[in-house]
Amino acid sequence: MPCSMPFGDMVNESALEKEQFVVECLTEEHSSHFYPMLTTAKEILKDAREKHYAVPGFNCVADVMIRGILDRAERLHSPVFLMLYTAEVDDKTWWYYPTLVRAVADRYPIPIVMHLDHAVELDPIRAALDNGFTSVMYDGSSLPFDQNVEMTRKTVELAQPYGASVEAELGLVGGFGLEAKNCVSNVLTQPEEVVTFIERTGVDSLAVSIGTAHGTYQQLPKLDIPLLKELNAASTVPLVLHGGSGTPEDQIRAAVENGICKLNVYTDSRVAMWKRFKKIAAETQRSEPIPHDYISQLQEALGDVVEENAILAGSVGRAK
Ligand code: 13P
Repeated sequence: MPCSMPFGDMVNESALEKEQFVVECLTEEHSSHFYPMLTTAKEILKDAREKHYAVPGFNCVADVMIRGILDRAERLHSPVFLMLYTAEVDDKTWWYYPTLVRAVADRYPIPIVMHLDHAVELDPIRAALDNGFTSVMYDGSSLPFDQNVEMTRKTVELAQPYGASVEAELGLVGGFGLEAKNCVSNVLTQPEEVVTFIERTGVDSLAVSIGTAHGTYQQLPKLDIPLLKELNAASTVPLVLHGGSGTPEDQIRAAVENGICKLNVYTDSRVAMWKRFKKIAAETQRSEPIPHDYISQLQEALGDVVEENAILAGSVGRAK
């Protein structure tokens, strides 16, 4: 049973109260169910939309991060997206990432979606689908509307034979990319474009621009919740919020309450792991440290980000 307690009220409380909140969200019925395979975004976001919570999605590279995320999501009985950011794909990524995720996913008693994030071309989409990704995002946010429609429609056609879900972006969530050089301005999503976009593309979920931005904020955002309400009323598919990191908790909660069903986070994970990395480096005496000793600490730091966002999103205890 999902916890009926208002999760929003808990996030500012002490670590002990957070722990109690998590325990209360978990019941024995979660303990024995194992999912036989990766699930699709369409499937878990349907439940999220019906029950007014969001599923958190975390970008990750390498088994260190994949395990850090999955171990904590398992402990929280939270469904989760493992997201591969297309800009981080190199020539051997298609060997390692999906092979590892596919091998471990059915050992975890939680729904897991393997998702390709921000593809701006069709080749990585094809590669992801061929390698068992159950969800892909085509990001046509910087294209004119009709071209965004056309490319998203092609992505939907490619994904259909695989049974995979497709996320698209309408409007533009700006901010800093991985290179952290150029700041791109937001273009808010127009409600009047939503229906046509969904009808013409057949997309399964829609990332909307309501005031968040990727990367580190220069100044705190102010999400346009009235706009989100309009977008949600117009949309027949679940809405996605990119740029979750650094967004004030009350605004994330308001976004989830008003239709956001997937919450994307990356920068917070990177910052948390980096801070812990520097702390470990400063405190380690041994000249040949045991890798597991520091890797497990990085996973704990990442796990804490997973937990904070799962609580905010209301996904704790939703894996049934
Ligand atoms: P942040 O890095 O700002 O959390 O954004 C992540 C994201 O939206 C990935 O698609």
